[in-house]
Amino acid sequence: MLVLGLESSCDETAAALYEDGVVLAGVVRGQVDLHQRHGGVVPELASRAHLEAIDQVAAQALDEAGRGLAEVKGLAVTQGPGLVGALLVALNFAKGLGLAAGLPVTGVNHVKAHALAPFMARPGDPPPPEPDFPLVALVVSGGHSHLYLLTDHLTFSLLGRTRDDAAGEAFDKTAKLLGLGYPGGRAIEELAARGDPGAYRLPRPLWREGLDFSFSGLKTQVLTIYNRDKLAGRSSDDPALAGLAAGFQAAVVEVLVDKLRTALETTGARGAVLAGGVAANGALRAAALDMTRAAGRPLYVPPPAWCADNAAMIAHLGARQLAEGRNILGLADEARPRWPVE
Ligand code: KG4
Ligand code: ZN
Repeated sequence: MLVLGLESSCDETAAALYEDGVVLAGVVRGQVDLHQRHGGVVPELASRAHLEAIDQVAAQALDEAGRGLAEVKGLAVTQGPGLVGALLVALNFAKGLGLAAGLPVTGVNHVKAHALAPFMARPGDPPPPEPDFPLVALVVSGGHSHLYLLTDHLTFSLLGRTRDDAAGEAFDKTAKLLGLGYPGGRAIEELAARGDPGAYRLPRPLWREGLDFSFSGLKTQVLTIYNRDKLAGRSSDDPALAGLAAGFQAAVVEVLVDKLRTALETTGARGAVLAGGVAANGALRAAALDMTRAAGRPLYVPPPAWCADNAAMIAHLGARQLAEGRNILGLADEARPRWPVE
């Protein structure tokens, strides 16, 4: 079934064409330039930019896939969670297009879609892996740090969550502190690659205390060291600055992977998923792979482009929902800015 996926929950306007496990085309238009000087996403600016881009990314995805709207069998759109004004853009676009073209529209949970992103393929790739449930999934992005147990594609139960900042938020706030700009995840990773992670020993919050996370204290620790050691104004070649970034990244990675390991052990799950924007982080991917190898379980992690926000993952989960007639939206159905997956 050919599905057009649409996504506008935060600061990426995206559209994708998807058919039978394969992503035929994916277009993502980011807004970094727009938000950079504000040091974070400005919701009103995000909504306006989505509005300007949504029809263009949809047309481009169809074009790149070489398919016409007449061939599309259903629409999948992010219904939540996310910024309400941003969500409304793709949602209303999908409703209008669905009505005009006589197509069903299914509302997709963005966090669930992240967790299932490892199970899709590009044209010419070997078929995507079939998930062997139950699985534990760690979804880490700018808005979420959640651990779930998945018993099938659509049934998630929450095992743990962040009590304060999401992992990506912690990367972004720490990057801002270190003068690395926005968004910060990639910048910290690049700086950390040049630093000694043992140079500063940072705390491992909630270490071996259940499956919840807490990351806000880490950035305060980073700030304390930054001020104490007078790191302001140092260049990105400075070993102390790089060491601080490396120490921060090591602390986040160690906590995330240790909780994922605990979740795997305590639930007896058959494998682990690592997904969301922070899953693009090479140190996190490597540590999660080491852990799952030692545990004798597979790790499912999407390629970096599908860790970040995209519409392919929305179409992928949406195709399943459409096939099962789940969450088919009417014109009165609204965006769900807060939408727990379970
Ligand atoms: O999934 P995503 O694109 O958007 C949300 O749904 O939030 O995740 C974006 C987050 C940002 O906080 C960004 O800093 C983080 O993912 N991120 C990274 C890396 N690339 C993106 N964090 C750590 N290392 C990276 N390489
Ligand atoms: Zn996301």
